Amino acid sequence: MKTPAEKLLAPSLLSADFAALGEAVRAVEPHCGLLHVDVMDGRFVPNLTVGPPVVAALKRVATLPLDCHLMIVEPDRYLRDFAAAGASLLSVHQEACPHLHRTVQTIRELGMRPGVALNPATPAEFLDEVLPELDFVLVMSVNPGFGGQAFIPGSLSKIRRLKARIAERGLSCAVEVDGGVNASTLPALLEAGADWFVAGAAVFGAADPAAAARRMTEMIRG
Ligand code: DX5
Ligand code: ZN
Repeated sequence: MKTPAEKLLAPSLLSADFAALGEAVRAVEPHCGLLHVDVMDGRFVPNLTVGPPVVAALKRVATLPLDCHLMIVEPDRYLRDFAAAGASLLSVHQEACPHLHRTVQTIRELGMRPGVALNPATPAEFLDEVLPELDFVLVMSVNPGFGGQAFIPGSLSKIRRLKARIAERGLSCAVEVDGGVNASTLPALLEAGADWFVAGAAVFGAADPAAAARRMTEMIRG
């Protein structure tokens, strides 16, 4: 049995002021473990955000690992660019990857920690074959594309099933949850066994993002 993953907060910069990303990073870094960067292409999801140049800019100010979540079609075309930009963790969507095993291998070969994200409608069991290759699974608890959406309660049983499968197989894969994570949904997510908690609106929508991140980290650490 491998050691369990450390419980971490990953504030999502999607809800930060894009004109002041450096300040956003500096505000939350003392109170979290990862910085979550949402990459959207207007095709896999109906929204456009940022790409490798912004990741490279964040890398110049960040001291914590950049956790880049690719909500894009054909992610293989851009893996090298995200590695060069300084992504430490890189997740691709299962639904966007016909050759998922190869994509995951490439992410690792490029020196990043690979993760696979699952839309709410995608069963956890779809990752059974690739699970030993992953550093983390990202369970989407909203339909991807936008910050500030309501948490989908069915995500809890998916997290539980994944954690059980990971433990039963003696793997060390972390389970990250993304979407609608806040002080109200955290207790059930902790109980379900999630390891990493992405929070956008709950952190950067708060009057004091640093204080919001600190409070959530206190809850996560117990
Ligand atoms: C949604 C993104 C999330 C988003 C979460 O597609 O993947 O990372 O920023 O935002 P909140 O925490 O506001 O639901
Ligand atoms: Zn995300």
